[in-house]
Amino acid sequence: MFQQRLTETSGLARACLHGAICDDGALADAMRYATSGGKGMRGFLVMESARLHGVDDARSVWPAAAIESVHAYSLVHDDLPCMDDDDLRRGLPSVHRKWDEATAVLVGDALQTLAFELLTKDVVGAARVPLIAALAQASGQVGMVHGQALDIAAETAATPLGLDEIITLQAGKTGALIRWSAEAGALLGGADPEPLRDYATALGLAFQIADDILDVEGDANAVGKAVGKDADAGKATFVSLLGLNAAKTRAAELVDQACDALAPYGQDAETLREAARFVIQRDR
Ligand code: IPE
Ligand code: IPE
Ligand code: MG
Ligand code: MG
Ligand code: MG
Repeated sequence: MFQQRLTETSGLARACLHGAICDDGALADAMRYATSGGKGMRGFLVMESARLHGVDDARSVWPAAAIESVHAYSLVHDDLPCMDDDDLRRGLPSVHRKWDEATAVLVGDALQTLAFELLTKDVVGAARVPLIAALAQASGQVGMVHGQALDIAAETAATPLGLDEIITLQAGKTGALIRWSAEAGALLGGADPEPLRDYATALGLAFQIADDILDVEGDANAVGKAVGKDADAGKATFVSLLGLNAAKTRAAELVDQACDALAPYGQDAETLREAARFVIQRDR
């Protein structure tokens, strides 16, 4: 039931995004490739948080497509040899393996700017500028890119990162885009984003802990990317610091926190609670 809703909703966001990619040429082909597959969780969070505020899908699908575009860009660059050096993404060769490194850099660049163009559409309404400003922050020097920089620096740090440092790292590289996604619905609906911010802060951390656990326990075929790489690369994760069991306990606590943060919405937020539970139960 939840899975079906996720598939249907993320399909709307993907169709919107693919409709915005110019028809022909190798760059467009690679952009479509990079934005195919995947769970579509961030776009789903946008549209579900928008539905919670009575915002039509026809409006929220644009910010949903935008965040999936930024997310896909972040993955294409994350897989580059100078970053995590991964050959497999979403069950297929990563963009630099299917094409080449120059194409992967350019696909990421183009997907990033496309995201901001999508947010300028008239139908998005009065929230356009706050959404654009918030996405610029969530993506860049104080958001995802900052987290990615900390993640890469941690690989060669003289001393292992502590808990607070890992939380900061993960709140950037993964949390920032997830927070933007959940808050987008409140911004579109002209509502206070605080409950959704609290929800997404806990959810984003649980999401990355689950990703780090999948790197240890996951099946590469199901996960669709190489597993067992974080420890070899010296990545700073909850698993490297606390071990698997404590990381799982922490992730479950964070999911409870995320669900509790939705109390002001009562039963209406049940789908978002299911999303939080899904995040730590997923196998990919
Ligand atoms: C993977 O994100 C990268 C992280 C931030 C953990 P997802 O697990 O959402 O990847 P897709 O979009 O489903 O492939
Ligand atoms: C990636 O984190 C986060 C971003 C792309 C911003 P990871 O490096 O752990 O993601 P995977 O495991 O490659 O999907
Ligand atoms: Mg990485
Ligand atoms: Mg990676
Ligand atoms: Mg990972």
